Amino acid sequence: MTGANGRQARWQRNAVDGVGAVLLLTGLAWLAVHYGMGAGAGQLPHPAEAWLMRLHGLAAFAALFLLGAIAAAHVPAGWRITSEGGWPGQRGTGLVLCTLAGLLVLTGYMLYYFAPEPVRPALGWIHAAAGVAMAAVLGLHRHRRCAGRARQLRNP
Ligand code: HEM
Ligand code: HEM
Repeated sequence: MTGANGRQARWQRNAVDGVGAVLLLTGLAWLAVHYGMGAGAGQLPHPAEAWLMRLHGLAAFAALFLLGAIAAAHVPAGWRITSEGGWPGQRGTGLVLCTLAGLLVLTGYMLYYFAPEPVRPALGWIHAAAGVAMAAVLGLHRHRRCAGRARQLRNP
C-alpha cells in the first residue's frame, strides 16, 4: 500500500503503469480500428474491435481495484504529506487525477450499460480524452515529486 514515508508500494506503482498502459493502448487501438476500418467508417465491425474491448474491460476491472487501493491508502497519506509542505504541487495534480478517474468510471459505465446510439460516439470520445489526459497528468504528478524532492534537497 503506502509506506510510512508516503511512497506508494512498488507493486502498486507497477500495477498503475501496467494496467494504465493496457487501457490506453487498447482504447487508442480500438479508436484506430473502429474509425479507420470498422463500424465507425461505415463498414462491418472489424473482429479486432470486440477483442480489444474484451481486453479493455478486463483491465478496467483491475483499474477499479487499484483505484480502490489508492483511495484507501495513497490519497489520505499523500494529503497528509502535502499538508506538511512536502511534494509541492502534488495535491493539485492528485485532485485532477481523482476527478478524471471519476469521469472515466462514469463514462465507462455509461458506454457499457446506458449509451443511446446518437450520443455513443461523443461519449466514447469524451471517455478517451479523459483517459489520455489522465496519462499526461499522471506523468506530471510523478514529475512534480522529483522536482519537489530536488528542491527539498537543495534547501533542507
Ligand atoms: C488528492 C489526491 C492525491 C494526492 C494528495 C497524492 C499525493 C502524492 C504524493 C505526495 C506523492 C509523492 C509520494 C510518493 O511518491 O508516493 C504521490 C506520488 C504518486 N501518486 Fe499520488 N496523490 C493523489 C492521487 C493519486 C492518484 C488518483 C493516482 C493514480 C491514479 C496517484 C498516483 C501516484 C503515483 C503513480 C505516484 C508516484 C509514485 C512513485 O513513482 O514513487 N496519485 N502522490
Ligand atoms: C479507469 C479507467 C477506465 C475504465 C474503468 C474504462 C471503462 C470502459 C468501459 C466499461 C468501456 C465500454 C466497453 C464496451 O462497450 O465493450 C470502455 C470503452 C472505451 N474506452 Fe475505456 N476505460 C478506462 C480507461 C480508458 C482509457 C485510458 C482510454 C484511452 C484511450 C479508454 C478508451 C476507450 C474507448 C475508445 C472505448 C470505446 C468507446 C466507444 O464504444 O465508443 N478507456 N471503457
